Amino acid sequence: MTNASPVVYLNGKFLPLDQACVPVLDRGFIFGDGVYEVIPAYGGRLFRLAEHLARLDHSLSGIRLANPFSHAQWDTMLSELIRQNTVSDNADQYVYLQITRGVAKRDHAFPKDTAPTVFATSSPLPPIPETYATQGIAAITLEDIRWKYCHIKAITLLPNILLRQEAIDRGATEAILIRGGSVTEGAASNLFIVKNNTVITPPKGPVLLPGITRDLILELAQTHGIASREAAISEGELRAADEIWLTSSTKEIMPVTLLDGTPVSGGKPGPVWVRMIALFQDYKHKLRSGTHV
Ligand code: PDD
Repeated sequence: MTNASPVVYLNGKFLPLDQACVPVLDRGFIFGDGVYEVIPAYGGRLFRLAEHLARLDHSLSGIRLANPFSHAQWDTMLSELIRQNTVSDNADQYVYLQITRGVAKRDHAFPKDTAPTVFATSSPLPPIPETYATQGIAAITLEDIRWKYCHIKAITLLPNILLRQEAIDRGATEAILIRGGSVTEGAASNLFIVKNNTVITPPKGPVLLPGITRDLILELAQTHGIASREAAISEGELRAADEIWLTSSTKEIMPVTLLDGTPVSGGKPGPVWVRMIALFQDYKHKLRSGTHV
């Protein structure tokens, strides 16, 4: 199967993308009533699937929607989706899955006896731009205008979209969000700072998405003797950081070298980032070659 015609999964069927349709009264379309996950697959192997499915369970329970599949059923379906979209054995992909509360009469109250809509795609994972490693990225700070359930990976992304677009309009790659004087995360990424060789990230809670990449970085730091801790980060601490990183499943670890127009870590990716990205690439490589899952 070539990727000229990607195969998608919709409500129990694998079919070509251009034949996949959802009724206009789907609550995802009408209300943004649903949740999603984004899972990379390296060399055909889903990255940290158990962790992504555990987060999916939390998102679903956060919106009071039953998971339509067991974890084993998700594994089977997503693995088949990846297989059907494989163009070469080593090509990386990323799965994007969405579950909405289904098709129903327009009414805010939950519908009764309505089957959820389940949709999933697997696309080639765009390569990380080389400039991220050589130059880093620019970020700007913005007020976190989102709601109070940011731990739920909700499809309702309008605030994130507006924040990201403002960053782009101002020549940056990502927005770093500040709520009540503390840094929460990026518009679509988690945030780390490095201070005196210690890696610091805000603790989990309702103001940020519990990122799978974030957890792996803390794990790698612990395994490899890099000092790390979870602690609130004030705006002042952000500006005084030795290094700033932004992490996500599709962008890995982005070193921020310009914050609101001011250079960070001398305007180039810092030494702790250089060490961590090497550990991260090594972890991915082992996954590709089947050494661990
Ligand atoms: N977004 N915080 C937010 C608000 C995010 O949207 C994301 C990821 C993250 C990082 O989480 P993870 O490491 O599990 O990818 C943090 C994905 C990639 C997206 O919406 O496309």
